[in-house]
Amino acid sequence: MENGAENQRGFTLWFTGLSGAGKTTVAEIVERELKERGLRVEVLDGDIVRTNLSKGLGFSREDRNINVLRIGFVANLLTRNGVAVIVSAISPYKEARDQVRRRIIDFVEVFVDVPLEVAAERDVKGLYKKAFAGEIEQFTGVSDPYEPPVAPDLVLKTDEETPEESARKVIEKLEFFGYLWPREAQETEYNWSSR
Ligand code: ADX
Repeated sequence: MENGAENQRGFTLWFTGLSGAGKTTVAEIVERELKERGLRVEVLDGDIVRTNLSKGLGFSREDRNINVLRIGFVANLLTRNGVAVIVSAISPYKEARDQVRRRIIDFVEVFVDVPLEVAAERDVKGLYKKAFAGEIEQFTGVSDPYEPPVAPDLVLKTDEETPEESARKVIEKLEFFGYLWPREAQETEYNWSSR
């Protein structure tokens, strides 16, 4: 099969955005879809990476950038070995994101864009409440900066579309870049060869 794991072209799909923007939610749907299509997939999620690879790092500018560069380092190793890598990390600083982007040739930057008020309203982890109360310092969007990407490959407005719609846009972008074949094309090919 064209898209099978054997001749898969690796890429890093990098989701950046505020906490609560929907990065992980959309990433999980995309992950499922890619696996269904037979791709080898690895997910590097900020929250999880911070419990192992980046354990002990805090949220200063320096520590966040170290975290992002570490994630980028692993993503690069996997990407060049043909893996579909999905990263979701706030990655708030342009400088570190761009550094990773320069290193990984097959890189797709997705800006998960949501107004701070919406992320704070969702407050899935209850962290915004604490951040606004001053109980958490240096919280992105509240007391710490987030530098939006200047030229992302894709922008997802997760307050205007469902997670499924966002995931669809991501898949379409991957197809557009040639990392995936459209499903219809796969099916057509299958029909042709089975005739
Ligand atoms: S990054 O800035 O270094 O890219 P990363 O995505 O790994 O961040 O981790 C962010 C997660 O850490 C958030 O989703 C949240 O659960 C948690 N967190 C704890 N403290 C903070 C903080 N001060 N700012 C942002 N996120 C925080």
